[in-house]
Amino acid sequence: MHSSNYDPHILRHNTSFLLFSLLNALRTELLHAKQPERKIDICGVIGACVTALEALVEGLCGPDPRMFAYCPSDDVQRLRKIAVGQNGSDTISFANLIALIDGVTTALQTHDARATTLARRAIEACAQLLGLAYPAPNMDIVQVGSGSEPQFTLVQLPPVPIRPGRHASKPVAKLNCQEGDLLSQLFSQMFTIEFPASEVCAAMCLKFQEELPIELDLLLGQQTYEEGRHAMLVKGAFERLGGSIEDFDPCFDIWDNFLIGKSLAETLCIEHFLGEGYALGGDYMMADQQHGLGRYDLEAIFLSLQADEILHVKNGLDWFRRLAGEDAQYLIARLEQQVAVPPPPEPWFGADLRRSVGFTESEIRQQKLFSQSLSL
Ligand SMILES: [Fe+2]
Ligand SMILES: [Fe+2]
Repeated sequence: MHSSNYDPHILRHNTSFLLFSLLNALRTELLHAKQPERKIDICGVIGACVTALEALVEGLCGPDPRMFAYCPSDDVQRLRKIAVGQNGSDTISFANLIALIDGVTTALQTHDARATTLARRAIEACAQLLGLAYPAPNMDIVQVGSGSEPQFTLVQLPPVPIRPGRHASKPVAKLNCQEGDLLSQLFSQMFTIEFPASEVCAAMCLKFQEELPIELDLLLGQQTYEEGRHAMLVKGAFERLGGSIEDFDPCFDIWDNFLIGKSLAETLCIEHFLGEGYALGGDYMMADQQHGLGRYDLEAIFLSLQADEILHVKNGLDWFRRLAGEDAQYLIARLEQQVAVPPPPEPWFGADLRRSVGFTESEIRQQKLFSQSLSL
């Protein structure tokens, strides 16, 4: 059903409100979830949510729907059926929730007034999915106003936790791993880097919601999705090699560094400039090492991680400089002593790569000195 008399502004308003509420509810759940599999699933749904919101923000439901005529008209109905299960009472799954949110995107692209209904259904499905791990009252949708165009609001989300959840079972003492042990390297990649990065990107949006521009909100949502995908790829390799998550201790350094940030600019400086930015090239180093050992599957994984990291740093630097303005150099100097991550040694240091993501010549020199001081 295409509604020719449905006001696209109201469609946009209601649907975007519901989707942004859903995105933040998912971010909150990511920070509280304990099971790594669940975190990966949530990052996947966050990715779908960002895609739907981009369809709104980029004006895909603009004045000319003909450009989306390729969307089959029965898609929305079909996805709705998937979302509620075959018999209407099946328990929702993460895959169904993603299908439902994809349905919102399709509805938006075809000017279908059911986008709002589907987005509301997605929130309800999400509340059902989150179950006990998340206090259900926080997911309540309150309908405000009356008339044919309902407006929705979501009650207050709980605060960002002091420490994000980890695996449900209590970690045992760290294994006595030799330096460079592959399983400990992969575990560290997951729990020292990828999961914390997804959590930090989610947490900074919740913590600094008041000052968060929409473009950055979506970029960080996309990054949360990608960090979850990185964790998923590394977890697969870790398990294929016989690794067990319970055999290692999680590391909270990146999360604890995030807590130091007192503003969005400081937090971007910590995570994107001094964290992922300084560490840029580290995934190339891992890929090369795996290549040398003949582990081409792992080489491919680290190369795909590196491709995403380049954009994370480029976007992060760009927004850090925009938000920090004239304070940028002062903030970098103040925070560097506390949280800077060691840059990789040559040949992976990559001055040209650093230039391409937006580091200045003096910043690259500083990072080079730091890198060299570590190999002395
Ligand atoms: Fe990553
Ligand atoms: Fe990243």
